[in-house]
Amino acid sequence: MCGIVGYIGKDKCIPKIIKGLESLEYRGYDSAGIAYKLNNDIEIVKEEGKIVNLKELINKDLDSYMGIGHTRWATHGMPCTVNSHPHKVGKITLVHNGIIENYEKLKKYLKEYKWQSETDSEVVAALIDKLYQEDNDMLKVLAKLKDYLKGSYALGVLVDGLDMIYAIRKDSPLIIGISEDGNYIASDVPAILEYTKMYYLLLNDEYAVLSKNDVTIYDKDGKISTKSLEVFEGSIDAAMKNGYDHYMLKEIEEQPKAVMETINEYINSYEALEEKLKGLEKYEAIDIVGCGSAYHVGLVGKYLITKYGKVEVRTDIASEYRYTEHIYRKKHLIILISQSGETADTLAVLRKAKEMGTQTLAIVNVVGSSIAREADKVLYIKAGPEIAVATTKAYLCQMMILSLIALYLGIKNKSLSKDVLKEYKELDKLISDELENKEKLEKIAQLIYQKKDIFYLGRKLDYALCLEASLKLKEVSYLHSEAYAAGELKHGTISLIEDKTPVISIVTDDDIRTKTLSNIKEVKARKALSIIISNREIDDKSLYDELILIPKVHELISGALVMVNCQLIAYYVAKLNGCDIDKPRNLAKSVTVE
Ligand code: G6P
Repeated sequence: MCGIVGYIGKDKCIPKIIKGLESLEYRGYDSAGIAYKLNNDIEIVKEEGKIVNLKELINKDLDSYMGIGHTRWATHGMPCTVNSHPHKVGKITLVHNGIIENYEKLKKYLKEYKWQSETDSEVVAALIDKLYQEDNDMLKVLAKLKDYLKGSYALGVLVDGLDMIYAIRKDSPLIIGISEDGNYIASDVPAILEYTKMYYLLLNDEYAVLSKNDVTIYDKDGKISTKSLEVFEGSIDAAMKNGYDHYMLKEIEEQPKAVMETINEYINSYEALEEKLKGLEKYEAIDIVGCGSAYHVGLVGKYLITKYGKVEVRTDIASEYRYTEHIYRKKHLIILISQSGETADTLAVLRKAKEMGTQTLAIVNVVGSSIAREADKVLYIKAGPEIAVATTKAYLCQMMILSLIALYLGIKNKSLSKDVLKEYKELDKLISDELENKEKLEKIAQLIYQKKDIFYLGRKLDYALCLEASLKLKEVSYLHSEAYAAGELKHGTISLIEDKTPVISIVTDDDIRTKTLSNIKEVKARKALSIIISNREIDDKSLYDELILIPKVHELISGALVMVNCQLIAYYVAKLNGCDIDKPRNLAKSVTVE
C-alpha cells in the first residue's frame, strides 16, 4: 500500500513525480503529496483525494530538479491533508510506505517534538531528524535506523541543505531506477518505465544515496554493494492504458496473451511440463495460501489438485492460516499465491513455513518481489504489470499454473493422459472467443446493475469460481453480491431471493449438474432473475432468463472460460453504475500491512 516515487537529475522533477504517482495510484489513492527543492528550500504540496486534486494545486513548470512524492492508503489517521505525506520534521522531509509498530513508544523517546499528524510516518521523520542532529551524517543514521524501528518501511528522504535523495527499505518494496538524465526511487517498476528500464532492487535493510549523477547502494552491514542492475523485460505498453477506458478492460483483453506467456514453457511436451514441475509428486499434502482473489484461485487449485493429482490439499486465507494451528505431514508443501509478491499476511505465512522447515513454492507475478525471493521455489506467472486494483489476468494465469500442477500430478499417477496437454495449446483462442461475448454480457449487466443483491450459485469447482466472480462484482460495482454453494442455499440465503433478484449460476460439472439445476429451480420458483453460465445447453428453458454458453473443454481449463464472462459482467455493471473501476473505494492492490 502507498506508492513512493522520487527523482533527482537534470530534468524538472515535478512532471516526472506526478507521472510516477499516477502509475502507482493502484497502491493507494486517498491523498497525495510532493516535496521538492526550490531555490534552497524544501517546499511541500499535498492534498486529500486522488492525484488529480494534487495536480490542480501544483505548478509543473517549477525549476526543481529533486523531489519525492507519495500516494497514500491510510493506516494511521484518516485520509486528510495533514496526515498525507511528505512529512517534514526539522531538517528531514520523508515519504513512507509501511507500518511502524513501535511508533507510540518512539514518541516517548522523541518527546521534544510536537506532532502535527496522527501518522507513524511523522515519528520516523522526527527520529531521523534527532539522529541526524547527533551524527550529522545520513549514512550513519541510515545504518542504525533498523535498531530503532519495528515494522515495515520503505522511505524516501530529503535533508535540508543536501542535494541527495536517501532511500531505505525493510519489508516494503523499493527500487532505485537509473538513467542518463537522473536517478529515481519508486515502489514499483511501472512508476519509472517511461524514463528507464534499468533499476536496482533494494533488499531488506539496504539503503541508497542518489545524487544527480550517481547512485550508491549499501548492504545491510553498511558496505558498498556491487549488486547487479535489473532490466525490466516487459513492454512499456503493458503498463499504459493504450486507449482503453479502463485498465480493467484492457487487462481482461490481455488474458489470451498473458495466459499463453505463462504456460508456454510448460505445454510444448510432457518433458517440458516435467522439467518445470519435477519433484512436486513427492509431497503427501499441500496447503495453498493467499489473500483475496489469490485465495479464491487457491480453492480452484484445491479442487483440481485433489481430484486429478490425488493429493490432500487445504486452502486457506493467509491472515487466518498464519495464526492457526496446523498438522503437517512429513512431506508437506506450502504454496503461496500472490500477484504482487508483497502481501503482508502471505509473506508472514512464508516466513513461518521457512522457520518450521516446511518446503515452500510461490506463484507470483512481480519478479524479484519479497515472496518470490524468499520462497524455496518460485513459478512466475507472466501476466505483465497489472494496474487495475481488481485482479483479472493475474488470477487467470495463477489458475492455469495450478491447473498444470494438477495435470502433472495426474499424469504421474495415471489418472490423466499426456494428451490433455494439447488442450492448453488452444487456450488463447478459447479465451479470445469468450471475449467476443461482450455485447451479450453488457446486456446482462443492464438487467442487474440497479439491483441491491446479486447471488452466485455453484457446486464444487463452480462454487470456487462463484466466489471470485462475486468478489469481482462487489469490488468494482459496490453492489452487494454473495457466492453460495448451491446446496447450501436453502439453509438460509434463499430467504433473500425475491422477485427479480439476480442469481447467476455456474453449471459446468457434469457429475453434479442435475443437483445444481434443482437448486436453480428453487430460486426460479421464487421468481429470481436466473442467469446461467454452462458448458451444455439447458433443456428446460424455464430455468433461465439468460444463458451464457461456453464450449465443452477439459475441466482443467474450463474455469478460465467461465471467469472471463464473470469479469466482463462485473466490469459492465460497474461501468453502468459510474464507478471508479480501476480504483474502487477503500481498496488497494498491494496490501503490505497485516
Ligand atoms: C488485494 C487486492 C486483491 C488481491 C489481494 C492479494 O486485496 O485488491 O485483488 O487478490 O490483495 O494480493 P496479491 O498481490 O497477494 O495477489
